[in-house]
Amino acid sequence: MAWYCTGSSNTELVENLFRTNLIKDERVKRAMIGVDRGHYAPSRPYSDSPQPIGHGATISAPHMHGHACEYLINFLKPGCRVLDIGSGSGYLTHVFANLVTDHPSPGSATGQVIGVDHIPQLVELANHNMRKSDQGRELLESGTVRFITADGRRGWKEDAPYDAIHVGAAAETLHPALIDQLRAPGRMFIPVAAEDQNPGRRTSSHGGQYIWIVDKMEDGSIQKERIFPVSYVPLTDSPK
Ligand SMILES: C[S@@+](CC[C@H](N)C(=O)[O-])C[C@H]1O[C@@H](n2cnc3c(N)ncnc32)[C@H](O)[C@@H]1O
Repeated sequence: MAWYCTGSSNTELVENLFRTNLIKDERVKRAMIGVDRGHYAPSRPYSDSPQPIGHGATISAPHMHGHACEYLINFLKPGCRVLDIGSGSGYLTHVFANLVTDHPSPGSATGQVIGVDHIPQLVELANHNMRKSDQGRELLESGTVRFITADGRRGWKEDAPYDAIHVGAAAETLHPALIDQLRAPGRMFIPVAAEDQNPGRRTSSHGGQYIWIVDKMEDGSIQKERIFPVSYVPLTDSPK
């Protein structure tokens, strides 16, 4: 589908994703139009494909960013708090910030988004990328967005609980710390490398990866659903 969606500008790319039904939600469309992917992807920013960003990492494909936002949309309302693990280029963290501040409507509730990556140079890059637009700079300066260097498998408990947690690299298991840090109600979008349908177990990566949606219900109970197969780089120990 990637070749159908490529545009000559950020707006054209997002409009094409919408036209081909890869994005269906108007709020997601608006939030993605509000973040120029050209500030985050050094090459072919307006094609619907992942691109290298250095340090062995990639910015994910725009349709995957759209899917992540749409699965989390009810937990990305103005005022919500979000944890973006494996924040890499910072692109999706910025899109989440637009959703939880409902940019550009003035006077709406302001949420918060924490981006976590374990490579300090990528945390620096994400800050640098966001500063390319006045709006991104304001989100950083107001503390609405913060990027932190840490091992995302442990989450970031200092700012928990989170209405939404997005994981941008494949986990070996459903890390309990992440579930602990979800608000009740709250939702996590996480790729898990698993050979069976039980992401609570530690498994090898040979059986492929699936996106799992994990809901913490109002009463604290957990519901998990396997959604679709994917191919993500793994969550790893930080490089030496
Ligand atoms: C496919 S990239 C996605 C980046 C980002 N979502 C984007 O689209 O620009 C996966 C990211 O996960 C990060 N990562 C891998 N293992 C990690 C870990 N244990 N803790 C935090 N980040 C990790 C990598 O450094 C990389 O930036």
